[in-house]
Amino acid sequence: MNELFEEQFRFNRDSVPNWEEGATHRKMLTGHLNDLAGENRGRLCVLGAGNCNDLNLKQLLHAFSEIHLVDIDGVALERAIQSQSLENEPSIFLHKSDLTGIGEQLAAWNEDDSNAGSNLTDIILKLSQPVNLNLPNPFDVVCSSCLLSQLIHLVVKAVGDTHPRFEETMIAIRSQHMQTMIDLMGEDGAGLLVSDFVSSASAPDLPHVPDHQFEQYLSQLLSSQNFFHGVHPGVLFSLLVGNSPFAQQVRNVEMLPPWRWNLGSRQYAVAAIQFYGLKKD
Ligand SMILES: C[S@@+](CC[C@H](N)C(=O)[O-])C[C@H]1O[C@@H](n2cnc3c(N)ncnc32)[C@H](O)[C@@H]1O
Repeated sequence: MNELFEEQFRFNRDSVPNWEEGATHRKMLTGHLNDLAGENRGRLCVLGAGNCNDLNLKQLLHAFSEIHLVDIDGVALERAIQSQSLENEPSIFLHKSDLTGIGEQLAAWNEDDSNAGSNLTDIILKLSQPVNLNLPNPFDVVCSSCLLSQLIHLVVKAVGDTHPRFEETMIAIRSQHMQTMIDLMGEDGAGLLVSDFVSSASAPDLPHVPDHQFEQYLSQLLSSQNFFHGVHPGVLFSLLVGNSPFAQQVRNVEMLPPWRWNLGSRQYAVAAIQFYGLKKD
């Protein structure tokens, strides 16, 4: 049994009842995806779709000709389309897939093994190569929905954030994910990287700060290093612009205003970065 994935399945089961609380988050994300859809009713791919509590799929079906939902938790995906009464909808496709390709190896990794060092080197090497996902890309819009923090959480759980090679492994999984998004987008496609980056567990005022002070409040949290590993929105943005390898593959990178995601027992601050593919000559 893969303990790392089991924990994700548990998170998904526990958050099933959060449809009502998640209304604002769903409206924001569905709205941004509608805006990216364009007039040709292209194909949408959502990575880390899980319970789809963040997607109004019926609305999105007006904007997209096909919706592809990807997650390691196939049960959550089935449950999601049932709960939105779309189980017989031919334009929705479910893909049960580990987007890292190394989830099993990471779960089996043990610091006490005599070959722990070379096993971790092998994991990092695999993360530097494209993962074979068998998805029908290219897509017109690719969205990563609050998945990146969970991919990094897999590294936190398996390797530990005090391990000397944690940073290297975290950067490898983050880079792989950004490259996966770009690879799945068509040359003219759009990407929307949505990431939760801090919660009310470490920032108890997050649910109560008035909207007009929200961005300022978040800046203070970020400057006091109060955010999840590897998902500082400014760092994610900087990886897509300037001289970074990703910047050579995308254009029109834009940070959208942050919003709150109410998950019942906790609230999260969410950042979204939108970008477009770059035509290769
Ligand atoms: C925080 S949830 C996203 C919320 C979700 N969009 C919703 O509204 O229900 C993160 C999702 O990432 C999925 N996930 C975690 N690790 C993954 C991996 N390696 N490959 C694919 N999906 C993964 C989890 O199963 C979970 O559904």
